Amino acid sequence: MPSVQFLGNKEKLLPWIFSFVPTSTLQKPLRFLDGFSGSAVVSYEAKRRGFQVTSNDLLQSCWQSAAGLIENGTNTLSLAKAERLFERPTGASEMMRRLFAGRFFTESEAGLLDSFRSNVEILPAATQALAMAVMNRALTRKILMGHFAHCQALRYAADPTRIRRNPSIAKPIQQLFFDLLPEFNQAVFDNGLAHRAHNMDLLELLHDEADFDVAYFDPPYCMSHSDYQSFYHLLETFSRRWTNKEFVGGTNRYWPPLGTDFDKKATVIDAFGRLFKLAAPIPLWLISYNDRSYPNVEMFHNLLLATGRTIEVHRYQYQNSRGGKGSVKGSHEILFVARNE
Ligand SMILES: C[S@@+](CC[C@H](N)C(=O)[O-])C[C@H]1O[C@@H](n2cnc3c(N)ncnc32)[C@H](O)[C@@H]1O
Repeated sequence: MPSVQFLGNKEKLLPWIFSFVPTSTLQKPLRFLDGFSGSAVVSYEAKRRGFQVTSNDLLQSCWQSAAGLIENGTNTLSLAKAERLFERPTGASEMMRRLFAGRFFTESEAGLLDSFRSNVEILPAATQALAMAVMNRALTRKILMGHFAHCQALRYAADPTRIRRNPSIAKPIQQLFFDLLPEFNQAVFDNGLAHRAHNMDLLELLHDEADFDVAYFDPPYCMSHSDYQSFYHLLETFSRRWTNKEFVGGTNRYWPPLGTDFDKKATVIDAFGRLFKLAAPIPLWLISYNDRSYPNVEMFHNLLLATGRTIEVHRYQYQNSRGGKGSVKGSHEILFVARNE
């Protein structure tokens, strides 16, 4: 898996998380649900370890990573096809230029994104998702801090001190894309099983199916950098080609946001209650949490105990600040392991 840059991603914690997951074998593969898949790095590790993976995230820009690298096991994007994505088509939409030129990109870069977004649709679905995943990754490299909830991108990209520390912010988008493409192509692999990537509210997905052996839940940590739609609004607008939205604030984020009950204090406890009911048929749950979220660890533990499962609580202390979602030095990452045995 190419290295990820997604707030709250679990790339560094994979060995720790998977030490609590049983082994899956080709003779008897286990079905693994990654319910809040984000960067898809956990799904990818599960696929690598021989699980049959179902990935899901509310954000379409996250779904593209899972569709391109988890569900897709065979299709890569050739250099020749990739080059054509940057040609100027006739009648390309001007969405990115209109919304984000002068905020995050120059006029010509934003125009290039409009061309890419129109052209990418001629690719078959799996390759299209892969191409979008590469572009989303290129865009987070281009913008300092890797998210779109600030308005400093163009200022930083012209600041020699910042550029020395992070040369990517001054590189052309097209170059960032072609730097990343070989890594993504190499990461496409088939583990012999059929995988799926969904783009929906996890509660709706579980309503339709809960036929899994293991579920990994890594929800937004409520009250601790949980507003993923503000951080990644630009990728979502780019992916969905939003037209039926307002665009608000200095960053021009779309409004209203997609509905999720996991990132608001008023609704989060009820959302977990519904999640635990719907996931009842799944024998093993692993739930990532941290000690700066609402409800706090003790309350959350009590909610889990009320399900009647056996609960283990494991802690991992961050040694260095990695930014985002409370993963600051001294804070603890928690993993609840809930078994129905
Ligand atoms: C902590 S991040 C997951 C990080 C991921 N495990 C990784 O390693 O990259 C939480 C994710 O939950 C997603 N999300 C929020 N509400 C959701 C919902 N109701 N259903 C599905 N996904 C949701 C967010 O879009 C975000 O990508």
